[in-house]
Amino acid sequence: MERKWWHDKVFYQIYPKSFYDSNGDGIGDLQGIIQKLDYLKDLGVDVLWLSPIYQSPLADQGYDISDYYAIDPRFGTMEDMDELIAEAKKRGMYLLMDLVVNHCSDEHPWFEAAKKDPDGPYGDFFYLADKKDGRPSNWRSCFGGSVWDPLPGTDKLYLHIFHRKQPDLNWENPRVRREIYKNINWWLEKGLGGFRIDAIINIKKPLPFCDYEPDRSDGLCSVSEMLKHAEGIGEFLGEMKRETFAKYDAFTVGEVFNIKEDEMRDFIGPDGYFSSMFDFNETIFGESPNGWYDMKKITGEDYKNCCFEAQERAEGIGFLSNIIENHDEPRGVSRYLPEGEHSPRAKKMLGGLNFLLKGLPFIYQGQEIGMENTVFSSIDVVDDISTLDQYQVALDAGLSPEEALKAVSAYSRDNARTPVQWDASPQAGFTSGTPWLSVNSNYREINVAAQEQDETSVLSFYKKLIALRKHPDYRDTFVYGRLIPCHREQKHLMAYYRKDAQNTLLVIGNYQNRPQEVTLENAPGTILLNNCERLAADGKTLFLEPYQFLVMTI
Ligand code: GLC
Repeated sequence: MERKWWHDKVFYQIYPKSFYDSNGDGIGDLQGIIQKLDYLKDLGVDVLWLSPIYQSPLADQGYDISDYYAIDPRFGTMEDMDELIAEAKKRGMYLLMDLVVNHCSDEHPWFEAAKKDPDGPYGDFFYLADKKDGRPSNWRSCFGGSVWDPLPGTDKLYLHIFHRKQPDLNWENPRVRREIYKNINWWLEKGLGGFRIDAIINIKKPLPFCDYEPDRSDGLCSVSEMLKHAEGIGEFLGEMKRETFAKYDAFTVGEVFNIKEDEMRDFIGPDGYFSSMFDFNETIFGESPNGWYDMKKITGEDYKNCCFEAQERAEGIGFLSNIIENHDEPRGVSRYLPEGEHSPRAKKMLGGLNFLLKGLPFIYQGQEIGMENTVFSSIDVVDDISTLDQYQVALDAGLSPEEALKAVSAYSRDNARTPVQWDASPQAGFTSGTPWLSVNSNYREINVAAQEQDETSVLSFYKKLIALRKHPDYRDTFVYGRLIPCHREQKHLMAYYRKDAQNTLLVIGNYQNRPQEVTLENAPGTILLNNCERLAADGKTLFLEPYQFLVMTI
């Protein structure tokens, strides 16, 4: 396999609004990120992905862009951005921006122009339809309601797969594609390492528009239904790669849900459209067409199976990007560990099992200190549009307000968006002002400053984990070695080998709050990492403590 510069890197996602506020306005900013670069370097991360910081009305927290060439003043200036790129480079780090091109903001000049003259050239930048003919399709927007809304001041409707303030760009129009490529190249010229590519699977719509079988009493159907019928996205993605990323050897990771069975090679194979794509197999586990209130809770066994299934699918094809959480998901430790079992030891086990899977390891801000879901005192403290929609869906389904709040709290995107807990001072040291979203009340117990002083903290464990993955004796095994699941039938145990010609490494976690015995195929060799103080073993038999996690040669 041809080696690429990004194969052995460790990635870290920054959600700038909640990362670190340097000027006291309650909103994280670029200067805040610059101030924390040494912290990130010390942690061992190489590549930073920034969620959007472009000019935006922030209807969907920056995933609604009104100027692709400008930084939103709440985050800083273009000079700050240039400084961040330069400062990252000085430290040998790379920067990825978020590429949000399925849609723009309804405040983008293109959309303004389309409203003024829907039959003019900018009308064709969007999907418009004549109001008098009714809605061209019965698809439900990802944030609720129909994807079709009236185009203000006209006799037309426009399409938005996401919020009504996020009109979809018409990728069938070559002018739109040219504008997008021009912008990507403009940013790559500035010295970016590449992009995380937002919601990209949605750019191809099955045309002409039509209805599909409704899946709720609202008569609408999920967008995932229309995606099953969309053919030919490869032409757009191949063209985008040729016109942009390939020229710069840029790294790209796609946010790709709903891929078709046999398409993985096209997406992330050696000549794939992208360098990598996220593994969302665990994320989507238990989803219900009815909404969040009806999600099935994932168990440790399910988690193990989801990870291994995804690994099997990608084997011999390419690199998945592995996460336990991101800005759209609840905190991984709250989701994938049983309720009430969020000890530092259990958090380390989950982090370790995920981090050493084959693929690219991504850490989401705060994960490295074991940040947990927050508690929403009422729906009024929720900011996220998706949670607000799902709350209404739950109410409509007959849940009481208390039940609806409880149900959506477990999956709310705001869980991951509470400010990073830097220290035990007011507002967790995130801001000297009032944070845009309340800090999690557990910040006095869980924060960076305390964990930096503590050799046994979750943070110290993540540093060791990263160092192990980069250790010259093992790096190639972790990056290129095969992943072979083992003891798969043994309940509450997740274990796998990472194996190449040099090493066989065993990664093993006792996924429960009780001790467990396991008899290995070979006696353990050197213990490379242990989240407990000791290891009890007798020959090939290990006596694992609750949530014990180990990496060893074998
Ligand atoms: C992606 C983003 C999410 C956003 C959506 C629409 O899923 O990760 O935050 O709301 O796209 O842009």
